[in-house]
Amino acid sequence: MSLDREAVVSWYRRNRERSRALFDLLSDDAFYSQPIALRHPIVFYAGHLPAFSFNTLVKRGLGCPGIDERLETLFARGIDPSPDAPTTTAQGGDTATLEGRATLAGWPGRAEVDQFAAEADRRVIDALEHGDVERPGHPLLDRADAVFTILEHEAMHQETLLYMWQRLPFAQKNRPAEYRPVLDAPSPSFEWIEVPAGRATLGVERDQIAFGWDNELPSSCADVPSFAIARHDVTNAQFLEFVSAGGYEDRRWWTDADWQWIQRERIRHPLFWEPDDGPGQARTPRRWFWRGMFDLLSVPMSWPVYVSQAEAAAYARWRGARLPSEPEYQRAAFGSPDRDRVHPWGDQAPAAAHGVFDFSSWDPEPAGTHPAGASAWGIEDLVGNGWEWTSTTFAPFPGFRAMASYPEYSADFFDGEHFVMKGASPVTARELIRPTFRNWFRAHYPYVYATFRCAKNI
Ligand SMILES: [Fe+2]
Repeated sequence: MSLDREAVVSWYRRNRERSRALFDLLSDDAFYSQPIALRHPIVFYAGHLPAFSFNTLVKRGLGCPGIDERLETLFARGIDPSPDAPTTTAQGGDTATLEGRATLAGWPGRAEVDQFAAEADRRVIDALEHGDVERPGHPLLDRADAVFTILEHEAMHQETLLYMWQRLPFAQKNRPAEYRPVLDAPSPSFEWIEVPAGRATLGVERDQIAFGWDNELPSSCADVPSFAIARHDVTNAQFLEFVSAGGYEDRRWWTDADWQWIQRERIRHPLFWEPDDGPGQARTPRRWFWRGMFDLLSVPMSWPVYVSQAEAAAYARWRGARLPSEPEYQRAAFGSPDRDRVHPWGDQAPAAAHGVFDFSSWDPEPAGTHPAGASAWGIEDLVGNGWEWTSTTFAPFPGFRAMASYPEYSADFFDGEHFVMKGASPVTARELIRPTFRNWFRAHYPYVYATFRCAKNI
């Protein structure tokens, strides 16, 4: 393989432009706010994206000198504290220092951040254009690993930025002039689809793809007995039945830890929903709203519901079903009667007809509107319109080795508390769409664009 410098420079510029556009959506007073208590204030991410790229490729990869030691350290790493612990409590060494800094007084001014970012961008682009960034046998530069690490890292952060923006008051966001909410539609009827027993491909060998994160490697397979899975994601209409039936007040549907969480946080409905009589009120308000990015909408009943893994699992139990495992998802999405597919719909590159991804929409779209993206078995929206929760705890495949360009990327989360999500959301970049890409979050993290579907044994 030889690196296409023009392609990676253009991807880096595209990333930076999109990140800038995302920050431009915010009013100035939002820059130091912290819409999700478990994450850093917004200013951190403005510095983190260029700092991570610069630190990883230019400083660590190429061994070049730094720009500003203080800012490079300040913006080095995100956090993932447990939602089950008070947010003021430090979780570990790295988090302790970062939490200590998470005060408004401690953050640099916006002009200083912008200036640092511009210089980091300049040096990263120079490295991509002229640097010796592809060196066989080098821990960070073999197959230009650090180049793809920084490109995919920024693309992934754009999604996490957007789910943070989702929680900001509408007054702190500049609504794009062309924005129109996606319209509701008739909900598709529920249908089970049987997937025959077979082998699911999980991981991939390093030399079979241009780039993969360490948790996607090496190649791994699992034998999957036949199972049934829903053709569509659970819609808001279907989830409303669970809410109205008192699902959030019934201990039977929740694990001990999940029940403690919803009791402690007084959770009575999906975070994206708001009752017209105020958050956390009765389970049968006159009307439910959906907190979109720019508008409060009457809950679009045909859209996939966005919920935490704990709520997804409770709903599935109430239905007498369960969440699919990661191998079942792989089999449902990429398996076929003869050979594995690159995407659920086949081997063609992801396109708008196949699903809702790559920032094509601010909102989810009605279930059943992308039949061209169906898998070999006829299962729809497995990639796009919301990540798909699985019942599988995030863990390494046999033979895992932490990657040198970002050693803590996966390894820090093999703690038995994170669950694998697969697929893509409306704001997942197309470059991240591949069968082995894995995402993961805690069961009690309700902010992400994640939906689910039910599965059961046959
Ligand atoms: Fe990051």
